Amino acid sequence: MNTLISVANLSKTYASGFRALKDVSLDIRQGEILALLGPNGAGKTTLISIICGIVNPTSGSVIVAGHDIIADYRKTRAMIGLVPQELTTDAFETVWATVSFSRGLFGKKSNPDHIEKILKELSLWDKKDSKIMDLSGGMKRRVLIAKALSHEPEILFLDEPTAGVDVELRKDMWNVVRALQKSGVTIILTTHYIEEAEEIAERVGVINKGEIVVIEEKAALMNKLGKKQLTLELQQTVQSIPAQLRGYDLELSAGGDQLVYTYDTQAERTGITALLSDLSDAGIKFKDLHTTQSSLEEIFVSLVKEGA
Ligand SMILES: Nc1ncnc2c1ncn2[C@@H]1O[C@H](COP(=O)(O)OP(=O)(O)OP(=O)(O)O)[C@@H](O)[C@H]1O
Ligand SMILES: [Mg+2]
Repeated sequence: MNTLISVANLSKTYASGFRALKDVSLDIRQGEILALLGPNGAGKTTLISIICGIVNPTSGSVIVAGHDIIADYRKTRAMIGLVPQELTTDAFETVWATVSFSRGLFGKKSNPDHIEKILKELSLWDKKDSKIMDLSGGMKRRVLIAKALSHEPEILFLDEPTAGVDVELRKDMWNVVRALQKSGVTIILTTHYIEEAEEIAERVGVINKGEIVVIEEKAALMNKLGKKQLTLELQQTVQSIPAQLRGYDLELSAGGDQLVYTYDTQAERTGITALLSDLSDAGIKFKDLHTTQSSLEEIFVSLVKEGA
């Protein structure tokens, strides 16, 4: 896939002296769905804001479809739709007016059919004549999405789009995102919901303390960083792990009836065959066994902890 957005050596130090981004480089591919995960304050919004031209970088560059975001600001900004993290809307305007106005801001000719289509997709059609201030929080968020899509952007940034929204809206949102991707739109989202990244994204980037800790295909990430565990249900409880098994990464359950062996999925040998034979030598019999693999959530937590 072609690179659509190229972020190179990007750093941001705020006026307070705080370094929110430290030499961040990443390529965003044409047509992908990329999820950015990271704890509060990691720098996700700062990164997005720089790409969208809302915050100035301290150093480094961002190229969008061959155009520099600073030298060619109008061009790159017009390609991008942004659903901001904070709810900011013109309270006194109607839904229809505010979404139509957004389109105009990007110099696009008015297109009521397009506005109607997105309002319908976002279940806002029956609210089109309501004032923004009379809407619920979730509906206001829908309006922000409609605004971001009003000018038919090729790139869509969603900054924590599902924070505090109900299941229904989340579903609507992901349906809209999938349909957009089908039509060729590149989508970058931040989320605190790891299962969401797991469900919708093709690549996952983890940001911690202003640095990209890892960026990888979702499947490869899970494969690379995931640990597998083999749990053995013992026939008889044991008091402690026998000395001859000390070389294995083993944990005995509190009741002494389960042994859990953790192994690396990337390693050439899992060590399971040797373990089973050593167990038998030690006189430990088991009645059942099963394996589990760590979730993206566990991977994420361990990455962020390592970076702390
Ligand atoms: N205008 C600003 N002036 C000074 N510091 C700022 C400013 N904006 C953000 N920061 C700091 O930069 C860091 C990164 O903030 P940012 O909003 O990018 O994080 P985030 O990853 O989006 O977090 P969250 O998950 O909470 O949205 C934080 O420590 C924040 O306090
Ligand atoms: Mg943020």
